[in-house]
Amino acid sequence: MDAFEIRGGWPLQGEMRMYGAKNAALPILAASVMAEQECLIQGVPDLEDVRVMIEILVALGARVMREGDAVTVFPQTIRSTNVPTYLMRRMRSSIFLMGPLLARFGEVQLSRPGGCVIGQRPIDYHLRGIRALGARIEERNGYVRATANRLFGTRVTLDFPSVGATENLMMAAVLADGETVIDNAAREPEIVDLADFLRGCGAHIRGAGEGTLVVQGVHHLHGTTHQVIPDRIVAGTMLIAAAATGGSLTLTGVRPEHLGSLLGKLQEVGIPVARERDIIRIEGLRPFRGVNLRTEPYPGFPTDLQAPFMTLQTLAQGTSIIHENVFEARYKHVDELRRMGADITVDMRTAIIRGVAGLSSAVVEATDLRGGAALVVAALAAVGDSRVEGLQHIDRGYQELDVYLRDLGADVRRVVLSPDAV
Ligand code: EPZ
Repeated sequence: MDAFEIRGGWPLQGEMRMYGAKNAALPILAASVMAEQECLIQGVPDLEDVRVMIEILVALGARVMREGDAVTVFPQTIRSTNVPTYLMRRMRSSIFLMGPLLARFGEVQLSRPGGCVIGQRPIDYHLRGIRALGARIEERNGYVRATANRLFGTRVTLDFPSVGATENLMMAAVLADGETVIDNAAREPEIVDLADFLRGCGAHIRGAGEGTLVVQGVHHLHGTTHQVIPDRIVAGTMLIAAAATGGSLTLTGVRPEHLGSLLGKLQEVGIPVARERDIIRIEGLRPFRGVNLRTEPYPGFPTDLQAPFMTLQTLAQGTSIIHENVFEARYKHVDELRRMGADITVDMRTAIIRGVAGLSSAVVEATDLRGGAALVVAALAAVGDSRVEGLQHIDRGYQELDVYLRDLGADVRRVVLSPDAV
């Protein structure tokens, strides 16, 4: 088990060029299964979840080449529609293969993705939508098998603007007969990026990024070249880390319009943020105020930045209230922040944070991806030597985080803990 050893209390200073978004690259890699020629996908981050998705494509029979951040998928040789269970277990997002495999081959079998620490993570919206498109679904012993000779366009209304369900249904619909309308669709930038990729392959999609998505089915998808959008969640995490350490950071290669809600909240707490074209600049000023926050589907405040932003709020002047509206159990980082001196009380989906003068260094453990990022931000802000364990969670979504942080002046190093380390 790896850990970061961090000597905190120093402001981050410098510039960072953003890399591609994990949550755009994953569905796009899955969607490449439907193309009849190779797809060159640029800006693919080198992350554990992406490596697992590539392993799945290879296990299905695709040939995949990677050169730097460019991944070429040759889907012509795919023969299997059975997603290996051991790979499903390693990454929930394998569920994104359901729509594409069903659309291209008329069948797919995969194991139900497990829940995780942030919630049950059900897939009922995915299954209901796929069934509405004409698939038969059998569930047995934790496996889901969907079959359909043809998929037929239909109208689906999502109970909640689920990112994954919107992506799965959009992918299934692009090869269905006729028109599919998805109401109450998710509007995240990653949905728009997936639609852009699919249109590059010849799909007919309107309304991506709006509440209603309209897909006209086509018979074939050809290959394409696509540049993945920058990662707005990594960008937001780095801005929060600069604010929490009183540093100054210039992010380049970002899309400020994807971070409107975070930039608005940083202005509200009293931390000025400058933005232009593909650049965001932040000067971490002290003191800054506590604010109230509700996580919402895009364009609201992203649930994936709730934990890092909570760390910032532990150092604010005054009290903040955070309401986590998207996942039912996304406060696993609170106990660890308390061990560092934070004053937080949680009641169901609401957290009340009373600002403290400073956090104390400690040994803490990450139990999920974004909660782990919140602990790294806390360790950077706390004076003294901290250790953040559980990097297997953080490595899923942050590429070489220690390297990027060292480039910004942080005193951080990755250590491998012996199995019996206490
Ligand atoms: C995507 O997860 C992201 N993952 C998550 O990022 C992100 O937090 C989430 O969207 C919300 O923005 C990827 O894109 C790979 P949802 P997803 O379906 O699609 C409930 C990260 O840290 N729901 O929008 O799984 C669900 O339980 C990860 O990078 C159902 O009830 O999220 C949740 O409460 C974490 N039934 C809510 O909807 C369903 O069939 C939103 O989930 C599907 C979802």
